[in-house]
Amino acid sequence: MAGRIVVVSNRGPVTVSRHGGGLGFHSSTGGLASGLEDYLEGRADGTPGYIWIGWPGIAPRSSAEKEVVERRLRGEYSSRPVFLAESEFKDYYEGFCNSNIWPLFHYFPSYASFESTQWRAYRDVNDRFAEAALSDLEPGDTLWVHDYQLMLVPGIVRKAMPEIPIGFFLHIPFPSYEIFRLLPSRCREDLLQGMLGSDLVGFHTHDYTQYFLRCVLNVLGLENDLGRLNLVDRVAEADTFPMGIDFGRFSDASGTGHVKGILSGLRQKTHGKKVIVSVDRLDYTKGIKNRLLAFDSFLRNNPRWRTEVVLVMVVVPSRGDASHYRQMRREINELVGRISGEFGSIDHVPIFFQYKRLDFDHLVAFYCLGDVALITPIRDGMNLIAKEFLAARNDGTGVLVLSEMAGAAKELGESLLVNPNDVEGMVAALIEAVEMPVEEQVRRNRIMRKRLQEYGLAEWGDDFLSSVASVHGARPDSAKLLLEGPARENLLAAFGAASRRFMLLDYDGTLVPIEEVPEAAVPPAGLLETLGCLAAVPGTDVVMASGRDMSTLEDWFGDLDIHLIAEHGASIRRRNGEWEPIRHASDEWKSRVAPILDRSARRLPGSFVEEKRYSIAWHYRRSDPEFAAVMAKKLVDDLMQFTANTNLQVMQGRKVVEVRSKGVDKGSAALETMAGEQPDFIFAAGDDRTDEDLFAALPEGAYTVSIGPLKSRAEFGLRHPDDLVSLLREMCAVYAARPET
Ligand code: UDP
Ligand code: G6P
Repeated sequence: MAGRIVVVSNRGPVTVSRHGGGLGFHSSTGGLASGLEDYLEGRADGTPGYIWIGWPGIAPRSSAEKEVVERRLRGEYSSRPVFLAESEFKDYYEGFCNSNIWPLFHYFPSYASFESTQWRAYRDVNDRFAEAALSDLEPGDTLWVHDYQLMLVPGIVRKAMPEIPIGFFLHIPFPSYEIFRLLPSRCREDLLQGMLGSDLVGFHTHDYTQYFLRCVLNVLGLENDLGRLNLVDRVAEADTFPMGIDFGRFSDASGTGHVKGILSGLRQKTHGKKVIVSVDRLDYTKGIKNRLLAFDSFLRNNPRWRTEVVLVMVVVPSRGDASHYRQMRREINELVGRISGEFGSIDHVPIFFQYKRLDFDHLVAFYCLGDVALITPIRDGMNLIAKEFLAARNDGTGVLVLSEMAGAAKELGESLLVNPNDVEGMVAALIEAVEMPVEEQVRRNRIMRKRLQEYGLAEWGDDFLSSVASVHGARPDSAKLLLEGPARENLLAAFGAASRRFMLLDYDGTLVPIEEVPEAAVPPAGLLETLGCLAAVPGTDVVMASGRDMSTLEDWFGDLDIHLIAEHGASIRRRNGEWEPIRHASDEWKSRVAPILDRSARRLPGSFVEEKRYSIAWHYRRSDPEFAAVMAKKLVDDLMQFTANTNLQVMQGRKVVEVRSKGVDKGSAALETMAGEQPDFIFAAGDDRTDEDLFAALPEGAYTVSIGPLKSRAEFGLRHPDDLVSLLREMCAVYAARPET
């Protein structure tokens, strides 16, 4: 990687606040900011530099104040601030980000509310961040966009700078489709398309990656091949990169004199009792209330531990203006008060509670203080606290009680895993934790510490960035050159200069978008006019090579001066001729195959069987895409077995499985139309696997174009049928403008 890394996240490395008359600068709260800062700062000498674009948490009151912030951020933190106005901040940050995406993605749908103004603000602010990135990006740089606040940024930058490698990393969970679909449909599509502007989309766990890919299938209709998605002109990939920690930083710090000093001060306050530590940002996803309830029940039901155990709880202020957060703070205060009142005395304080962020050394001392770390989020993308606790414990002691709903649980299986909704289960885990023999603690922690050392923060970041580079660099065989710019001009020039042309065109998905009901795909008048105009260019034959039956093609295109090929090559009607079968294929086999297809149609709602003259097809374009994909695989398997050693072939097209006689295909049919001719310009366009036969059959030099996202052997690609129709119009215009020879 030669250039710099341009990092973009909502929260930058520092948060600026007002203190009396002046400004205070302090490290930002949250795993994204702390982890990323450690990664970027910790990279080896000689690795590319970085610039970090982010919101500094303050709206400047004057241009002088703005300048002070900009200068200090640039000089000390290699960061460039994006300032947000009060109203933007409200609608974008408090609104769409934290009152919609945050609760939804953490499975709190009842906390989520959608407002169009907030969605508009989200789009505008994403534009602003993208502009800031674009003004910094230079060829050779890599863009790394972070988290749910900026999901549209990769798509915006990709449009403006298609050649830049882009990675996107989501630090929170990606939810299942059932939750994601609660977003209005325009947001769903835009958010997924935005993320897919990246070369690589990264998640903390395999589950989040799979949920994302399922949403992409259900919302955008894009299938993946082991996480790889074909996007017409490039590929994008989704993969799992569990974020690690800078293990050495925590482990080394716990041995320093300063940390030891803080620790001994803390120990004096806890009087040698068993200490349970708990630390989180104030957030309803962190399960702080459930944890207090579990501690309450633990003390209530285990009198012998009542005066022997203390809970030291740190809650870091966060998003204090939002109502759910304010309410939660009140409830936590009440619970702490109640438990302290009920189980405390002059000699014993059951809970030490602090509502303030700890600096690094105090945090490490705090980790070392705990005999038990109680970390029980209701949902958490990763949770770095759990990992940091283990890294700080150089003697291997300490028991981690961890929620199975935290991303970190996937890597920390030797901890005591609990369900944060099960208070009794948490109490049982607390008892096991306070009673666990030291050897057992060390045995479990040794395994987890080794794992954390082996895949730390550096491995996470390096792995992610090198994967961005390799996905970006890989132009797989299937990647098509988008028919734009010089490639398009060359093609138009060749069309104009040729004297004998063949235009071989598929219909559904190629000249018109796929419709849910096949009969609805009636050709619009503009398309008929374009085809007519093309066919009128002297020396030009237009061949419509479709899977449709003869009568539909006749109805729709019978009046045009073009060749029609029906049923993927079973019959042909030459210009002004009559229908004739290309090969004298038999059709007596259909009655034996039909029951197999009928069975699938009965089982999959929305699917149906279409019987044509020489083939039979099962369509599933209106069905649930996930169930349909499984059913289609099964059906193809069954049909393969049934047709083995027969003269039949099974082919899977776009949302269709079809059986027909061998040797009947669009390729052979197209060659028939050109028999005896010497074309000097052949153009073929299609959108699904049946068109691959056509592309394969054509001689070298033919222009082959695939429409849409599927893998193809075609040389060129276009995104949408409308793009093809406008290309065909341009061809007509080129001919009309050709100088007389
Ligand atoms: N942290 C801190 N001081 C505190 C509490 C937390 O510096 O008093 C840091 C901690 O080191 C960790 C991050 O904040 O890296 C919290 O990250 P986590 O992934 O656990 O949760 P998030 O806040 O991102 O949801
Ligand atoms: C989580 C999110 C981050 C966010 C942090 C703190 O870690 O994943 O994107 O920065 O919480 O939240 P805040 O709203 O204060 O930035």
